[in-house]
Parts: sequence; structure tokens; C-alpha cells
Amino acid sequence: MSGVNEIRTTFLDYFGKNGHEIVPSSPLVPRNDPTLMFTNAGMVQFKNVFTGLESRPYSTAVSSQKCVRAGGKHNDLDNVGYTARHHTFFEMLGNFSFGDYFKERAIELAWNLITKEFGIDGRRLLVTVYHTDDDAFDLWKKIAGLPDERIIRIATSDNFWAMGDTGPCGPCSEIFYDHGEDIWGGPPGSAEEDGDRFIEIWNLVFMQFEQLSAEERVELPRPSIDTGMGLERIAAVLQGVHDNYDIDLFRALIAASVEATGVAAEGGRRASHRVIADHLRSSAFLIADGVLPSNEGRGYVLRRIMRRAMRHARLLGADEPLMWKLLPTLVSQMGRAYPELQRAEALISETLKLEESRFRKTLDRGLTLLDDASSSLGEGDRLDGETAFKLYDTYGFPLDLTEDALRLRGVGVDTDGFNAAMARQKAEARANWSGSGEAATEKVWFELRDRIEATDFLGYDTEQAEGVVRALVVDGASVEAAEKGSRVELVSNQTPFYGESGGQMGDTGRITGEGFALSITDTQKKGDGLFVHIAAVDEGTVRVGDEIVLDVDHARRSGLRQNHSATHLLHEALREVLGTHVAQKGSLVAPDRLRFDISHPKAVEPEEMARVEEMANAIVIQNAPVVTRLMAVDDAIAEGAMALFGEKYGDEVRVVSMGTGIEGDKHGRTYSIELCGGTHVSATGDIGLIRIVGESGVSAGVRRLEALTGAAARAYLTEQDERVRQLAGTLKVQPGEVLSRVEGLIEERRRLERELADAKRKLAFGGGGASGDGDTRDIDGVKYLGKVVTGVEAKALKGLADDGKKALGSGVVCFVGVAEDGKASVVVAVTDDLKDRKSAVDLVRVASQSLGGKGGGGRPDMAQAGGPDGSKAKDAIEAVAQALAA
Ligand code: ALA
Repeated sequence: MSGVNEIRTTFLDYFGKNGHEIVPSSPLVPRNDPTLMFTNAGMVQFKNVFTGLESRPYSTAVSSQKCVRAGGKHNDLDNVGYTARHHTFFEMLGNFSFGDYFKERAIELAWNLITKEFGIDGRRLLVTVYHTDDDAFDLWKKIAGLPDERIIRIATSDNFWAMGDTGPCGPCSEIFYDHGEDIWGGPPGSAEEDGDRFIEIWNLVFMQFEQLSAEERVELPRPSIDTGMGLERIAAVLQGVHDNYDIDLFRALIAASVEATGVAAEGGRRASHRVIADHLRSSAFLIADGVLPSNEGRGYVLRRIMRRAMRHARLLGADEPLMWKLLPTLVSQMGRAYPELQRAEALISETLKLEESRFRKTLDRGLTLLDDASSSLGEGDRLDGETAFKLYDTYGFPLDLTEDALRLRGVGVDTDGFNAAMARQKAEARANWSGSGEAATEKVWFELRDRIEATDFLGYDTEQAEGVVRALVVDGASVEAAEKGSRVELVSNQTPFYGESGGQMGDTGRITGEGFALSITDTQKKGDGLFVHIAAVDEGTVRVGDEIVLDVDHARRSGLRQNHSATHLLHEALREVLGTHVAQKGSLVAPDRLRFDISHPKAVEPEEMARVEEMANAIVIQNAPVVTRLMAVDDAIAEGAMALFGEKYGDEVRVVSMGTGIEGDKHGRTYSIELCGGTHVSATGDIGLIRIVGESGVSAGVRRLEALTGAAARAYLTEQDERVRQLAGTLKVQPGEVLSRVEGLIEERRRLERELADAKRKLAFGGGGASGDGDTRDIDGVKYLGKVVTGVEAKALKGLADDGKKALGSGVVCFVGVAEDGKASVVVAVTDDLKDRKSAVDLVRVASQSLGGKGGGGRPDMAQAGGPDGSKAKDAIEAVAQALAA
């Protein structure tokens, strides 16, 4: 007997040995199909390879694909737990040929695997073919040696497989396993075919066509192969059991559920254990692939699955959250094959616990209401829509949970009444909504929001996705189409474009579709959940309903990621270095830089800045994974997550953490934990480098830091380095000697300035270059030094006059400086012993008059003036002498 893990490996290895590329499962949220809610077959990731739109480096492939069939077109949710073979989550094993081999090789490979590798008795197998497919009929005969009666021709769509209303399709051939006479049922095509005896185990699709529309079908470029085998079914056959829930994997999950609840998986309780085991798988894998419970779209399907499981946990008497306790069993069973499950274990665990503990509060009250409202109902009756809606609206009961709860009693639900109640509530909410002021200009978005679902944001996991245009807005009005040259705001059902929020700028990029292309210059969030792409139509005409490919500008987004993660690291480092009073006061995360405002009373010192930078870069070097989890806001804050005070957070918050502290309180603990909706690097090493380039004040108590990361930080440092090199070249020293050389030059300059001043002074006193009478004379017992000087700045005259006073000891000094333009300045100084008798202010006026000036000013011991006529300098000196003599 082989376990599920061995069967999966055997399958992949078998086709690998036969030249197939082993391709990992694609995510459950399809990247390449906007019309599909969840990946529901192995071929989904190869859709465009079949049609020739995309080429891969291999022409044959094998995979084990995670699939979810809940919500959307293929919805098995309602049956899970009550049948042997329905699952919301299952694995599809498949081999694929993209124009390589066709029917013959496909049948040969399949037959050999089943009968030789798996060792299934060929006599227990029979096959179906499409009624007109003689080739397939003959090949089964030739290769498998099957007798005619075990090759059954089927004329219905059962043997013509199509991905959807459009897409690749072709006739198919299914392999059935006969579980034996003791189980009721007949071969395919017979009246008893719905019985459980003959079970389809493998579907071989001979992909030949592409359905373009309801009317138009074209041939694929080359005939291809797509096969699908449910792993759980083949495991049941190989393990000799008839029920998928009896295979090793489910036995382990159910055993864990039995142990945690203490309730045996028997009788009426069996279904509940099965529901829990199945729903745990789909919930865990969806969360690992980025879906989180919410009230719309994929998130609501997940919430429905989780809540349905919770009701069954309640039926088993669990009065504490149960699902998360079973997660380790699931991870040990499936984590090796799907490492994403291991990576997301914490996120899954917390999301399960959170959803379960929140729902628990209303679940019991809702169940009481349901019991009261339905107690009088019997088999064939229907619960009224109003009550079902009240359960939905007030108690958080998804409609299918209510249906499930009534199912065993044969009671249905009036779904029309439920829908009518829902529509009425929406209309009332809309009527109550009155727009005013700023909100009025946003009216168009709220009106649209009434009609269309919130945009599904895929951009945490991918930068490229397909989508469908849901709305176009030009100049504030909703339109059906926008043509080349117009500026338009576009809303799609899903997008990888990040809408500006939390300081992080919106994404830019391109949106293309059949015959049109738009450039996206910004993305904004509007109307409570719509992501609005601000676009210019470059080519063709885009219409509401068009399918589009959305491509985020990768380089720009990488820069945004780096700068956002770096902001978190700097935030923590600042708190460590400056103190925990540091709080975020504002933030800008741009592609090429980051700006971060903090509360701090004074300038951040250069040494503090260096410490901050060093600490943040130490975490960069750790290359630690950046972990994102969804938690209850209180739990997140209890764990030490930094939340913005005054910010409004929903009940659940995204918590982004990174790095391990190296010193102090943080030693060995998670370094940075913040509530954040932004996009981040996957490991801190991706930041590359953090460089703080500016620190300034914004307002009282708020400082602003500016920093660069990655390539921008490197370019900055390279430029700095280049400057030092140039400097060194100019100074003719090694770069390391620049500082001492510059210090030397400054010192030298100071010395030269001093020498120059001395020289000028000497010149002023010593005749030489001075023009005219330089001598000191005695005028009525007062020493008078009068001198005309050139080449001395006006502001230096006072210094000369001071020196002059010192030289005289007692006396009067007059210096007249003549500038290059011929204008004159004059300073008169009088020593203190004389200043009461001879005022410098009076004397300078006399000098000024000689120079054609209008007096001057100062104090009795020192006064200054000017005049336009420098040629009269000597006259001014003499005029002062005369005034002294008088
Ligand atoms: N794509 C085929 C299926 O899902 C194999 O059954």
C-alpha cells in the first residue's frame, strides 16, 4: 500500500523519467485567468501554452496541481462531508503535451503507469471514448488489449472536456476502476452509472480546439494532451479503500480532529470530522496563497469554508478554536510536497484562530435563533429568506452555512427571499448615503461601489495578472468606453497594482488587451475598496467588460518595496538609539527614496545617525525573511507591533515583521513588527543597503530623515566617492589624505591672512606704498598721525586706527583710505585721555567735508565717514590738522 506522498512522487517521477518537465503547482489564485475564481484543474497554468500564446522551454510537462472547487462555477462545497468523493480542495495529477505527443503516446503512458508502476489489475479497468473517436477506440484496443465491451463510446459532454465557455477543449477518454460487485452501480453510460461501483480515476483530454465564443471554435496550433487524475481517488484505489476519506492522509487529519474533540468519527459525527478535515485543507492552502477571509470575492469563499467548518466543530462540542490545532498534522502530511504551507504556517494558524474566536461569539446566538425559527419546520419546508438574511447580516452566517445546518432535516432555505432582503438593505444604505464636500466629488466611486465588488488586490504575491474591466471614469463620469488619446480612470475586478496608502506611492505600469494599451501613471484607492488606475489610452479603445493584462512597473515597485521595508528598520533603529518616545509622524515611500518624520525634540546628532544606520544595515545583512501575518489588532499590539496612534484599523490587521535583534532588549527577538498594508521585500537582504542622506527639522518636535536604499544608495555613495577622488586629484594626494591636506590648507590660509594683515599694517605705518605725508606731527602738544592709505579695505581702517592709537600712546589718528573706484573712507580715532577735548566725531566731519561727503558718525574716541572724492585725501588729512590747531 502506498501513501499519498509516495503516489504523488511516483507519478511525477514516472513522467519525469519519460522526458517530462516536472513543473510545480501554480497558486490557487490563477495568475492568468481573470474569469476563474480558483485554479480548478492542472491545465489552468498551461492554458496559454496550449493556444500558442505563450511558449515554454519544454514541450511536455507533469504536475501535481492544487485545486479548489468552491465558489464560482465548479462548487462542491455543499456536498463535502456527506459523500465519499467530494472535496473543496484536492490535488490533480496530470501530464501534458504541448504539440509533442498525442493520443497514442498518451494512452501508452497512462496504461503503463496504472498497470505496471501502480500495479492495478488491468481486468478491473474500463475506459470511455467520445462516440466519434475511432482513433482512441482502436488505440485502447491495440495498446491495452481491452475487449470492445470495456471501451465504451459516450456521446455526451462527459467525454468532451472544455475548460470553460471559452478556451482549449477536445474529446476525452476516461479510465474507470471497478470497485467490485459488492458495491452497487453500473458502467458509464448505463442506467446505474451514478452508483459507486465504477469510479473514474483518470481523464485524458485530447486537446485539439480552442473555443473562442459560443459560435466559434478553431483548431489549436498543434494537437496536445491534458490529463487529470485526482490524487485522493487513485490513493483510495491503491490503498484498497472505497472512500477518499479513508486514505492515509484523511485518516491522519480525522484522527487529529477526533483527538482534539474527544468525539469518535462515527454515526452522525462522521460527516463533521470529514468537513473539518476537508475544509482545513482548502482554508490552509488558500491562506498560504494569499487569500484572507473577507466579506467579498475569494475572501468570502474562504470565510464561508472556514465558518462552515466551525459550525461542525461546534457540533462536535468544541468550545475553543479547533482548526488551528489540527494544522500541524496537515503541515506534517503535506508540507514537504508544498513548502508554501510550511512557510505560511504562522499566518494560517493565526488566521484560523482569529476567525474562529471572533465567529464563536455570534455562532451560538445565531444557532439559537435558527433553532427557534426552524423548530416547526419539517422535511420539504423552507426557512424564510428574512431569517436567513438576519443570520447572514447580524450573526455572520453565510447562506450555505444555514443551508448546511438544515440539510439533515431535509429543510431548505428560501433563497429568493434571502436575495430580496439583501437587495433591500443595499438600497436603503444607498439612500441614506448623502455626499457632501469632498465626499461629493468622490460620489461617482461610491455609486460604482454599489454596483461592483471591491477590487481583489493580488499585488502582495504578483506584479502581473489578468483581469476584467469593471468600470471606466472620464472627468468624474462613468463611461462605457475610452479611446486613444483619452485620460481615464479604470477599475478592474482584480489588480496587482498597489493603491497609494500608508505613505507608499501607488504603482505605475501598463494595461493591455485585445487591440488596446494604456499606460498607468498612478493608482489610488477610492469608494471603499476600489483600486483606481489613472491611465492614458495609448492605443485602441478600451471597454467595460474587456479582458486585460495588468503589468506593474517592476523596477519601480522593487524600489518601493526596498524603501518601505527600510522605513520599518529605520523606525525600530531610531527607537533603539533615540528612545521609545520616537513615533512615526509621517512617511513617504517613493521608488527612489524614503522620507520619515519622527517625534524627537532636537536634531539627531551625526553619531546617533551613524548608529541608526549601522543597526538598520545589520538587519539588512541578516537577509532575514519578511514575514506577513493577519492578526487581531489587540493581539498584534500585545506582541509589540508598532501601530500608528489615531489610525483606524479594522478588526484584522496585517502584521509585517522582519529580522532578529542583535543587542539590548531586542536581543534574539523579532526586530521590527509593524501593522502595515504595504508591499515589502521578501528578505531583508533585498534592501541591499540603507543610507541616511538628510536630517532636518519640520516643525517643533518633529525631525525629518531622508534615506536611500539599494541601487540609489549605491549610486549616492559612488558619487560621493567620485567627488573625493576628484578632490584628491586636484589636491594631488591619495584619497585618504584629503582631510589632512585640507586641514593643512586651511591652517596655511589662516597664517597667510595673518601675514597679509601684518604686511598691510606695516605698509600703512611705514610709508613705502603710502602716498603722502606719513609722519606724526605735534600740533599744540597733541600728537597727530594722519595718513592716506591705498589697498586697504574700508573695514580694516578701524583696525589701523586702533594700532595707530596704541603707537601714539596719546594723540589723534586719521586714516583716509582710497578705494579703486576713487571713493574715500576716513577714520578718526582719539585716545581716551584726549577724547573729552577733541571729539573724533567732530574731526571726522571736517575730513568728510574735504572729501565731498556729508559728515559721518561714531563715538568721541572713534568715528568714521566717507566721501566721493578720493583725490582730496591729502586735503582731508590737513583739514583735520588745522582743526586740531584751532
Ligand atoms: N483538464 C482535465 C480535467 O480537469 C484533465 O478533468
